[in-house]
Amino acid sequence: MTNAVPSNAALARNASSDLFKPFQLGALQLSNRIVMAPLTRSRAKEDDLPGDLAAEYYVQRASAGLIISEATQISQQGKGYVFTPGIYSQPQVQAWKKITDAVHAAGGKIFMQLWHVGRISHPSIQVDGALPVAPSAIKPEGQSYTKDGFVPMVTPRALDMSEMPGIVEQYRTAAQNAKAAGFDGVEIHAANGYLLDQFLRDKTNQRTDAYGGSIENRARLLLEVTAAVVQVWGGDRVGIRISPLSGFGDIADSNPQALFTYVVEQLNHFHLVYLHAIEGDTGGTRTVPGGFDLQILRRLFNGSYMANNGYDLELALAARDADTADLISFGRPFIANPDLVERLRVIAPLNTPDPATMYGGGAGGYVDYPTFKAS
Ligand code: PHB
Repeated sequence: MTNAVPSNAALARNASSDLFKPFQLGALQLSNRIVMAPLTRSRAKEDDLPGDLAAEYYVQRASAGLIISEATQISQQGKGYVFTPGIYSQPQVQAWKKITDAVHAAGGKIFMQLWHVGRISHPSIQVDGALPVAPSAIKPEGQSYTKDGFVPMVTPRALDMSEMPGIVEQYRTAAQNAKAAGFDGVEIHAANGYLLDQFLRDKTNQRTDAYGGSIENRARLLLEVTAAVVQVWGGDRVGIRISPLSGFGDIADSNPQALFTYVVEQLNHFHLVYLHAIEGDTGGTRTVPGGFDLQILRRLFNGSYMANNGYDLELALAARDADTADLISFGRPFIANPDLVERLRVIAPLNTPDPATMYGGGAGGYVDYPTFKAS
């Protein structure tokens, strides 16, 4: 990809791959199989409103077959970092509507990622300094990014049984709001050590009630949330993101293959449109520990499989050649390359994202990465 002049063989390989060809994703026709992964950019304004430049940012990336929005909190309780946007108020709905209208006018498709961080939060981010909520009162290792910078995480409060229907309602309301905001669908964030993942895995879920213990019990909240979201949208507009092998968010499970096999079997009842899997450790190694097989999940799942984590053109082409994924999502490459699809297609060099402007700030490192044509 760093070659100044791509070889004819490489261009011919691109031309013959279906990576760059339209793909039918449920009710939606995507212009190609390349997806923009959800990316936290931390540029939201007061009241968790998406920032003024968000429409421009997403429009610049509208040639992706599908855009998945940055993780967006479904409630104030679900917020874990400063400057992330929400989808729980009418002003937020109106602000997102401008963004989805602009993406659609540019020919793009966009899902919203629905997010509750659970224990990955801090009292200074919660209403009235409340403790973050979790399946069990177990403190995560790590630090929270607050308005005072990085601070140690706190021990969360275990959710009471009586609060569980309210969590499901937060997802239902957010799903309705995302619909009113003009999204093409939603992605349930069940990955990366946030609330739904915390319930799934036995390192973070040590409950002894109907939401803990057995795999069936640990999967209960996710399946209740999925039922509620599917009631709003229909399964063919709902995807789900999982990270069965990731330790992101200080999380782990004693038997991820059994857990996620059960999860996928149960999700099949809802006829979801895609399963979005982070392969390996989030943002890190793609190495899969012995004994785990992502392709078992892919074959079991009755919708499309979207692969993520460290893909480049070569890996993406290989995944389509071997049919190990239907769709490939790219994260960091989309930060620095608004025209990533075109760059991959013509084998142009890629801009490198600047870590200093990934989270927070203004236009710099957000909407000013040049297209290949412009540079
Ligand atoms: C992050 O803000 O770093 C972040 C957010 C959501 C994820 C992963 C990372 O799923």
